[in-house]
This record gives sequence, structure tokens and C-alpha cells, in this order.
Amino acid sequence: MQYSEKVMDHFAHPRNVGEIENADGVGTVGNATCGDIMQMFLKIENDVIVDAKFKTFGCGAAIATSSMATELIKGHTVKEALELTNKAVVEALGGLPAIKIHCSVLAEEAVRAALADYYKKIGREIDFEVPEAEETVCHVHEIPEE
Ligand code: FES
Repeated sequence: MQYSEKVMDHFAHPRNVGEIENADGVGTVGNATCGDIMQMFLKIENDVIVDAKFKTFGCGAAIATSSMATELIKGHTVKEALELTNKAVVEALGGLPAIKIHCSVLAEEAVRAALADYYKKIGREIDFEVPEAEETVCHVHEIPEE
């Protein structure tokens, strides 16, 4: 399997790993098939994502895509972040092998789930598709404490 240099870089040196205390939006998604879990934390001021961090318990591609996703949304508005697609993340990483594309979907979903949480917290109507918890959250693994 061939990974691009960028994928290897983001896998070996993931950006923005960790948690944000008192985050304005937190989203957790999982892939029921592989059991991988991704958690996204957002700090939002005036509808701009001023900080984004993630924790991913999953494969290398999931780590690289969540790392890239945080880089792509930081400094952008909530609206722009909602437009982030897994395709854009994959492109920014210089591509992913076909069997790893589903891993990038987690990154897109984690951003959406965190933004949905933010909308809920500020009482704004959620006018976008939110990944369904039953389908995406893995019940097999507990997220370990660091
Ligand atoms: Fe599960 Fe990549 S194999 S997210």
C-alpha cells in the first residue's frame, strides 16, 4: 500500500492532538466496522474556529485525516467548516489508497458532530446533516483516559 509523504508526515507527527478544556463543541464518531473512534474538540469565538484538537483511536489514515481536518478548519468560520468534505481532506493529504477512504469520512463526521454540539449549546437550529450516533459510534471500545 502506498501512502503519500503528507499522509506519513501527519501520521508520524499529527497536529493538534489532545483535548480542549471547556470546548464549545465536542463530537465523537466511530466506524462500527473497524471500531476506530475519533473525537473532535472545537473552540469557537464569534463563529470562527479559533482552535481544534482531536483524539483518534484508530488506524494511521484516521490519524492523518483528523490531523489534516483540524488544520483545514482552524481559523475558518463555522460555515466554512461545515463545507469540509472528506474528499477535501484526502486531497490535502495528497490522496489515500481506495480502501482507506472510509477513514477520512470519520474526520468529516467528527467535525460535523462537534459543530452540531456547538449549535445545540448555543441554541441554534441544526440545519445540516449530523452523523447518526447509532451508525457511527462504536459501542465496543471505551475511550481510554490519557
Ligand atoms: Fe478504521 Fe481506518 S481502518 S478508520
